[in-house]
Amino acid sequence: MDVEVFLTHSNVTEDDVRDHTVVVIDVLRACSTIVTALDHGARAVMPVLDMAQAGKIAANLDPDVYRLGGERDAEKIEGYHLGNSPLEYTPDVVEGRDVILNTTNGTKALARAKSARHLVAGCFLNAGRVVDFIRSAGDDVVVICAGRQNRLSLEDTLCAGLLLDRLWDGSEPGLVTDAAHTAFTLYHTDSQTLPVALRRANHAQRLMERGYEDDVDYCYQVDTLPVLPYYTDNRLVLYEDLTPVNKESETPSEPGSPAA
Ligand code: MLT
Repeated sequence: MDVEVFLTHSNVTEDDVRDHTVVVIDVLRACSTIVTALDHGARAVMPVLDMAQAGKIAANLDPDVYRLGGERDAEKIEGYHLGNSPLEYTPDVVEGRDVILNTTNGTKALARAKSARHLVAGCFLNAGRVVDFIRSAGDDVVVICAGRQNRLSLEDTLCAGLLLDRLWDGSEPGLVTDAAHTAFTLYHTDSQTLPVALRRANHAQRLMERGYEDDVDYCYQVDTLPVLPYYTDNRLVLYEDLTPVNKESETPSEPGSPAA
């Protein structure tokens, strides 16, 4: 299985993702928020590009059944119900509801990848679940780090490196792309002191300065939420909740799944 890594989402094209299993990573904080919202019972998370798209979707929904969430410059967007802190997405707020999510980088990265064969959202919280899915899907893989403002983000690159480390059982195959080598090598350099490395990340520092230290601690937990947000019909839903018929048409089959 070939693995390509994009260290930011800005240059990803449709051709890069078509026929691949794609993982979009935005550790701080969009993908951690998506994983948390779905784990806490949200029906779906709809990632959008901008305010206009969010407004259009909201206008067609019953106000009781959706929550608008998102950020600009890390702060809640005026008029929205929620910001982009995963800690806001508690069961009493999201259970049984759709979340329309509008963030600066993460939801845009997801939008770029929507013509993938399989598209999932990944972060440290669900790293193990993502690796299991990639293995069972068996396709070539594209890992897209959302990054920040067209620049690399340390936390996304380290999370990509952790996924590669697990996929490759700790040793790099002979010939991999430069970006995959970079993510894997960086992870190996920092893995003994991962919490320290992650806290020095520029966006972590920025969030902590603004009072979001709890978000940073939360998002940096590894394997605490083994759920898989899977993109289908313009929304992310729990892979586990897809019907067996949908699963059959969406994926080759996962060991232990009803479609297997
Ligand atoms: C983004 O999509 O840029 C982020 O998730 C930013 C944040 O809210 O931390």
